[in-house]
Amino acid sequence: MNTLERLNYKTKDFKVIQAMMYRHAGINLHDGKQELVYSRLAKRVRMLGFNNFSDYCSRLSEDSEEVLHCINSMTTNVTSFFRERHHFEFLAKNILSKPDKRSLRIWSAGCSSGEEPYSIAFTCAGFPHVSTEIVATDLDSDIIRKASNGVYQMKDVNGLSDLELKSWFLRGRGKREGLVRVIDSFRQMVKYSQLNLKENWQHDEPFDVIFCRNVMIYFDSEFRSRLIDRFHHHLKPGGHLILGHSESLFGLSQKFRVAGKTIHQKLGEVAA
Ligand SMILES: C[S@@+](CC[C@H](N)C(=O)[O-])C[C@H]1O[C@@H](n2cnc3c(N)ncnc32)[C@H](O)[C@@H]1O
Repeated sequence: MNTLERLNYKTKDFKVIQAMMYRHAGINLHDGKQELVYSRLAKRVRMLGFNNFSDYCSRLSEDSEEVLHCINSMTTNVTSFFRERHHFEFLAKNILSKPDKRSLRIWSAGCSSGEEPYSIAFTCAGFPHVSTEIVATDLDSDIIRKASNGVYQMKDVNGLSDLELKSWFLRGRGKREGLVRVIDSFRQMVKYSQLNLKENWQHDEPFDVIFCRNVMIYFDSEFRSRLIDRFHHHLKPGGHLILGHSESLFGLSQKFRVAGKTIHQKLGEVAA
């Protein structure tokens, strides 16, 4: 049996990675995540020729490229098409269906491999009279590349109906059997870029809707609260902030009203 020998990995190595993730990405890896860090990084540490984490940590301290690799390995990218479907129903029924709606700017912040922004694009495509701009960003540069390719395995689209599958994807043939690709017209609706929410980001134009779902669970309350303020600033009056199923604004902001399940509307005059 070909078993890989366990690399030398001490609590002090975990602490270095824990502090680095917090400093660079705002990701709060609590002490119970020590083994998770080992399992996510061991392959990378071996690939670089190290037989212990201590040497890898020294490399991290002097190589900013390696910090990015490390962050990419440590992010949790779990997502799916139409995850929490009620959010997309809300978008269709309460926002896109408004008779005076002619244009919409939407940001998927922490978009992972693209299932969330493509689900937004599929929803918006049902309202061709609304001109839609979808911005999708993530900290993880590898996952952003995957998202913009729009290629998925059949198992990733299992939850969609045959009609949805036919309308939104092309099936791979030959060497690409078992893969599907988002049809170009939908891919072109989404503008992807790498963006670290911890950094000093700025968008030129405000948004009608910000999706930031299942991202803030990794942050501490101080970072969450700062982020909510910045999202508020980047929303148009009456704009919506959509969070994940276990996230809330409770104790973080009073500048929103609850508009639906984990859907928050910015208070203030809605522009005519
Ligand atoms: C669990 S996924 C959520 C994906 C999608 N929003 C959803 O709900 O299905 C969390 C994503 O947040 C991203 N993320 C974590 N920290 C981030 C940060 N500081 N800035 C931007 N994105 C971050 C991760 O890379 C990951 O892709």
